[in-house]
Amino acid sequence: MSPARDDLSHIHRPVMVSEVLGHLFEDAAPAPRRLVVDGTVGLGGHALAVLDRSAEASVLGLDRDTESLALARVRLAGHGDRVRLVHASYADLLGVLESHGEDAPWGVLLDLGASSLQFDDPGRGFSFRDPSPDVDMRFDRSGDGPTALDLVNELPEEELARIVHVYGEEPRSRAVARALVRSRPVSDGTRLVEIVRRSAWRTKRHDPATRTFQALRIAVNEEYEHLERGLEAALDAVAPSGRVVVLSFHSGEDRLVKNAFREAARVGRGTRRTKKPERPSEGEVRANPRAGPAKLRAFQKAGTVEENEARG
Ligand SMILES: C[S@@+](CC[C@H](N)C(=O)[O-])C[C@H]1O[C@@H](n2cnc3c(N)ncnc32)[C@H](O)[C@@H]1O
Repeated sequence: MSPARDDLSHIHRPVMVSEVLGHLFEDAAPAPRRLVVDGTVGLGGHALAVLDRSAEASVLGLDRDTESLALARVRLAGHGDRVRLVHASYADLLGVLESHGEDAPWGVLLDLGASSLQFDDPGRGFSFRDPSPDVDMRFDRSGDGPTALDLVNELPEEELARIVHVYGEEPRSRAVARALVRSRPVSDGTRLVEIVRRSAWRTKRHDPATRTFQALRIAVNEEYEHLERGLEAALDAVAPSGRVVVLSFHSGEDRLVKNAFREAARVGRGTRRTKKPERPSEGEVRANPRAGPAKLRAFQKAGTVEENEARG
């Protein structure tokens, strides 16, 4: 392994790599080219594992975050034209495939949420432990969409309460929204954390700001809307017998994945390779505590490998 490859795994360790590779490649006949779409390429950890696993694989990597893409580009450069990276949401997968002259990838991987690069950079605003002045939280900072702090200062109280309740599952969502609205303008991240810590539900396990910060991140990036569109596009796009593999990190995300795969199986689009989600091993969680909440679900499109081979 080159030093460049090693460097980035200190920043973000890919989660459940062997399980992901298992679902992508098990029972797959060798093929002249196997395109895997990494819809959340991040720092390229999973993409690198896919490229290393099979010399026949190529990767089309998508991310909404241009900074992550720039790092992934350097890390994956050694694989030449087996890698293409695109600044796009996986929600727009079908359009991206079309513009790259592809129609039926063998696999689609989605590793949801934010990377450690994003969480640990105080300037990005994701962290309540190290709050930033502008609490940005956007994956894609190239546009002019609202930041998380804009939502806190501008949304009606009812809408703020709904977001904190639905996306954060915060039991005291109304109290949090009321406290935020009464404190407007909320000047920065430090003030935001103070207000939320005073008004949110307290437990021994988590910082009381955890749920509200998660909710704001999901809202500002419209994560559930992108996920629903992305899952539909992935189920639509993959080749006969191809795979859709999703890693989620909290119950709201996992519910969307579970329901999409269950419905797809019910209407005969394929089968669930995981009826219950797979979890990381104890050893992996010990080595990488951020893997702890991970749930992996995988779906296999209807059709046979032979049918897929015949398509060329
Ligand atoms: C958990 S990280 C992925 C890490 C990656 N698997 C690796 O091994 O380095 C999630 C990434 O998904 C990106 N992301 C979030 N929502 C996205 C979307 N709708 N479309 C594309 N990328 C997205 C984030 O910017 C982040 O870089």
